[in-house]
Amino acid sequence: MSKGQRARAPRGPLVLSSVSAAQAHALSTRQSGHTLGFVPTMGALHDGHLALLREARQRADTVVVSIFVNPLQFDSDADLDAYPETLEQDVEHCRRAGVDVVFAPARAQIYPAGFQTQVCAGTLARPFEGRSRPGHFDGMLTVVLKLFQIVQPHFAVFGEKDYQQLLLVRRMVQDFHLPIEIVPMPVIRETDGLALSSRNQRLTKTARKAGLALSGALIATQDRVAAGETSVKRLLDEAKAALARTKGLDLDYCAIVDPRSLERVFSVRGPARMLLAGQVGGKDKVRLIDNGPLFPPVPL
Ligand code: PAF
Repeated sequence: MSKGQRARAPRGPLVLSSVSAAQAHALSTRQSGHTLGFVPTMGALHDGHLALLREARQRADTVVVSIFVNPLQFDSDADLDAYPETLEQDVEHCRRAGVDVVFAPARAQIYPAGFQTQVCAGTLARPFEGRSRPGHFDGMLTVVLKLFQIVQPHFAVFGEKDYQQLLLVRRMVQDFHLPIEIVPMPVIRETDGLALSSRNQRLTKTARKAGLALSGALIATQDRVAAGETSVKRLLDEAKAALARTKGLDLDYCAIVDPRSLERVFSVRGPARMLLAGQVGGKDKVRLIDNGPLFPPVPL
């Protein structure tokens, strides 16, 4: 076993922990003419991630999944410390999904001593998550660019759950001329409508009930638009009133925007997407986000 490789479970993915081993893997995969598909994650894999893995598996000869909790994209130490780390379980999920390689580096591999260069996100990063979580998107783009350089994929799959993230990654790929296709995947929901997230594990019963108001407001708005309502003012007044009535939800934003620029729109006669975020829970606050197309869904 070469340096940087960890033990390989019978017919399970090859688990690589060093940048050099992952880059060597990328080089030999590309040299043998194989398509390399990539799913970047922070672990704690759930059904939402599994849908991304399935998509990658269908499209690529070789699928690489990264598992790395990126400290640079957390704006609070408490949030970083509370982030679940479940590597063994994640590797097992990857084995079942037919993933070829899991890249699970230690922090010092990605941010060795002396590291100082970062990506600076543009105006798309200013509203919504960017306003509530200063530095989050710079940290996210920095690690995604690093991972792209290490894994060297032909394409990478990202969930629409983190919609602003998806747009920013697309923008970075265009701005830096990266020869990588970004494949979006729709939000996956639990049976009660809650958008799947690694953070859902931290929800108490009461917090979950409050969190469900976000998907409830989104679905109600989608229904109102399907029934012919086009006024964004009326749609938002109704959604915000319902959210304000929800005990235990501290609403951060509820907006209807152009799905490509994230600029606010005033009527839903053209492409529009609803974005919502809020905090739920008592002492241990959990931040939840949700979003969905109103009318009509546009190809990104
Ligand atoms: O969406 C995530 O899990 C993370 O933001 C990502 C893309 C893996 C970068 O750390």
